[in-house]
Amino acid sequence: MIREDLAYRWYQAIFSRYSVRAYDGRAVPRDMRDELAQLTDGFSPMCNGARAVLLEDGAEEILCGFLGAFGRIRGADMLLVLIGEASYPNHEVAVGFLGEGIILHATSLGLGTCWVSGTYSRRAVEARVKLGDSEKVMAVSPIGFAKRAQARGRDRGRGKGGGSS
Ligand SMILES: Cc1cc2nc3c(=O)[nH]c(=O)nc-3n(C[C@H](O)[C@H](O)[C@H](O)COP(=O)(O)O)c2cc1C
Repeated sequence: MIREDLAYRWYQAIFSRYSVRAYDGRAVPRDMRDELAQLTDGFSPMCNGARAVLLEDGAEEILCGFLGAFGRIRGADMLLVLIGEASYPNHEVAVGFLGEGIILHATSLGLGTCWVSGTYSRRAVEARVKLGDSEKVMAVSPIGFAKRAQARGRDRGRGKGGGSS
């Protein structure tokens, strides 16, 4: 089970989240970093077989060499690294739950995110994160403040200006 207060908070965040590819370079405040760090070891048994690491630097190097189908991702302060333990049969699902929980929590704090599973430098990640024998990096996400806030979903047209992911 996921704690009820978290489940409610993340459900609300779904409606305002959008993928952010352009960040303004501002540092994520310490209290927000601490809040996200509390989730990295998992928030429920559904996350068994997955772990997350928050990198405080290296986002530019890890993401910026790649153009990808949607263009480059620039200016993020932090990087979320999502790691699967391949010996767990459901590690891909676990990484999905863990990653989306952290991403929706970041949204609820007013931070932007973007799932990236292919166009990043695995070598640059592995230079910063020590992996176990059967662990593999499965995805990353920049975390930071969006350069331009944008309304999404049911927030669109309410004059809120979005900005929550
Ligand atoms: C599981 C997953 C993996 C993705 N991997 C990448 C990737 O490797 N590179 C990339 O540029 N975008 C990737 N994307 C796309 C972006 O996260 C995002 O969807 C895209 O910028 C379009 O934004 P939108 O989904 O809000 O329309 C991925 C999306 C998902 C859901």
